[in-house]
Amino acid sequence: MNARADIAMIGLGVMGRNLARNMAGHGRRVVVHDRAPGLAAQMAGEPQIIAAATPGELIATLKRPRAVMMMIPAGPAVDEQLEALLPLLESGDALIDGGNSHFRDTTRRADKAASRGVDFIGLGVSGGETGARHGPSLMAGGPKPAWDRLSPLFAAIAARHNGEPCCAWFGGGGGAGHFVKMIHNGIEYADMQAIAEVYGCLRDGLGAAAGDIARLFADWQNGPLASYLVEITAAILAARESDGRPTVETILDRAAQKGTGQWASVAALEIGVAAPTLAEAVSARLLSAAKAERERTASGLGAAARRREADRDTLSRDLADALLGARIAIYAQGFAVIAAAREAFGWRELALADVARVWQGGCIIRARLLDDLRTGFAAAPAEANLLLLPAVSAALARAEPGWRRVVAAGATQGWPMPALASALAWYDGMRTDRSAANLIQAQRDFFGAHGVERVGAPGKNVHLQWPGAGG
Ligand code: 6PG
Repeated sequence: MNARADIAMIGLGVMGRNLARNMAGHGRRVVVHDRAPGLAAQMAGEPQIIAAATPGELIATLKRPRAVMMMIPAGPAVDEQLEALLPLLESGDALIDGGNSHFRDTTRRADKAASRGVDFIGLGVSGGETGARHGPSLMAGGPKPAWDRLSPLFAAIAARHNGEPCCAWFGGGGGAGHFVKMIHNGIEYADMQAIAEVYGCLRDGLGAAAGDIARLFADWQNGPLASYLVEITAAILAARESDGRPTVETILDRAAQKGTGQWASVAALEIGVAAPTLAEAVSARLLSAAKAERERTASGLGAAARRREADRDTLSRDLADALLGARIAIYAQGFAVIAAAREAFGWRELALADVARVWQGGCIIRARLLDDLRTGFAAAPAEANLLLLPAVSAALARAEPGWRRVVAAGATQGWPMPALASALAWYDGMRTDRSAANLIQAQRDFFGAHGVERVGAPGKNVHLQWPGAGG
């Protein structure tokens, strides 16, 4: 028989088979299996790969203590696989879920596995097919001893940024890694939406051709906006069909989603942290998907009256500032949600500097901005508000005038920009030390006797007698 395998991979879709190859390329023997007959056999001849026809064969091929990784669709399939594997595993073995599972499901599964002595690691994996094969960003949660045992393997296959592996452990209990990955996706949705708004403004506001917009994005890649999403946007906008038409213009304006952005927004609301731009991005996808309704409304009401912006250079510069300002606000909202989750779920080991570090390479939201965030959070580990990190507040001050001009133009011209505008409203809200919420408290007390706190007496709830109030 072959030498025993170091790790098993169950689920040989795009992500699973590429992660298995990545592990094999780093000297690990990987036993692979998929429910779909034939997928494992197709990989059998590859170096360091062993195919298993059944879960039982897979388990029998592994070194002890065993490490089994699942890369299967999130949802009931993970529970089914867990049920099938637990009887085959023994105390001290580790089961790793590398899918986009909901963090609460992961916590529940980790508890179940723990009751059988099995360590369950929830592992957020970002970077798509290329990342899986050549270096993903990895975000882990679960029992620390199991992570310590597995981390050399994950550090070996992870993306590297300045020589450091983009992988980290964020806490016990299973769900911390998937929580961080979920917020990664919330940020991903919002950054993509902000970029799309900038593209739409250049296309419709300036009448710029896709090729020109591609060059602008390519140029931004040399400055503070440098990021994977800006880089691929330049490449996408430059792509052409065989007849010369820009490929982007042949694509229907209806965005799909698999749900992780919505989870991030719901989690933020449940934890009680405002992350409006993450939520706006989900709503914008929903609105985009309602294409027929948009067409009906547009023909019924007509589009908002628009005029072309004359000053191309100023608008282009302002759009770069707007995108940077919004991106900072989007990251700030995401980090604030993670910081609140750290408190709510007791993930004391979760360091925001580590989150910034694992996002510096391999993942979809990797961006130059993260260098400043990592340095800033490392210097001030107790700080959860990234707007107050010195490098960030300086960048915001520079971006603010252009960002405001863009949002103002959007409002007067009728260019929808929910991400850019909500990010600005959030930023302004965060800087407002005396808000108008005193009136909301008064209204609540007027109609519902909910009580108010008086200025100078916080924490003391008193019901006031309002002239004309019913109760
Ligand atoms: C990643 C991505 C990945 C997936 C998105 C797409 O980090 O590699 O986030 O996990 O491509 O979840 O999500 P939608 O289909 O919802 O846009």
